[in-house]
Amino acid sequence: MSFYDEVGGRPTFERLVTVFYREVATDDVLRPMYPEADLAPAADRLLLFLQQYWGGPSTYGETRGHPRLRMRHRPFHIDPDARDRWLRHMRTALDELDLSPLHEATLWDYLERAAHAMVNTFEPAGIGPRREGPGTTIPLHPASEA
Ligand code: HEM
Repeated sequence: MSFYDEVGGRPTFERLVTVFYREVATDDVLRPMYPEADLAPAADRLLLFLQQYWGGPSTYGETRGHPRLRMRHRPFHIDPDARDRWLRHMRTALDELDLSPLHEATLWDYLERAAHAMVNTFEPAGIGPRREGPGTTIPLHPASEA
């Protein structure tokens, strides 16, 4: 039995991302980073990724390809403040799930490590990746854009 099944499958991950994005919607640093007026598509991408990561359906890979998460986050200004906000909202969402202590600790340990790995700048906003999101995305390979 996969971890995905053990914690209750899709409904559990759906609740996690729903609460998480409810919190993101009120965050004045994170909210502007998301391209869409509606956060639902972003919630769906995160849901599909987490499902696949924990042993559920591999829809994420079929629709989005290899995750390459560090690369996909490069356009965003992810400093320790953004990371801590992301983690705080995940903590809120995780607490609402009421998982067993072992499942909860396993998921939290992963989310913490992943969030730390996503930090891509220690500069203040305005230097390095921008906070405004993909509207102002910096090209991944500027040299090849010529
Ligand atoms: C540390 C702070 C983080 C910030 C500020 C952040 C922010 C963002 C933003 C702005 C997007 C673009 C919205 C979208 O198009 O989906 C995104 C996408 C995504 N993030 Fe994060 N993220 C963070 C950490 C993480 C972590 C730790 C994970 C995984 C555990 C993750 C998983 C994803 C996934 C799967 C996508 C969609 C990728 C795709 O298929 O395009 N993020 N994130």
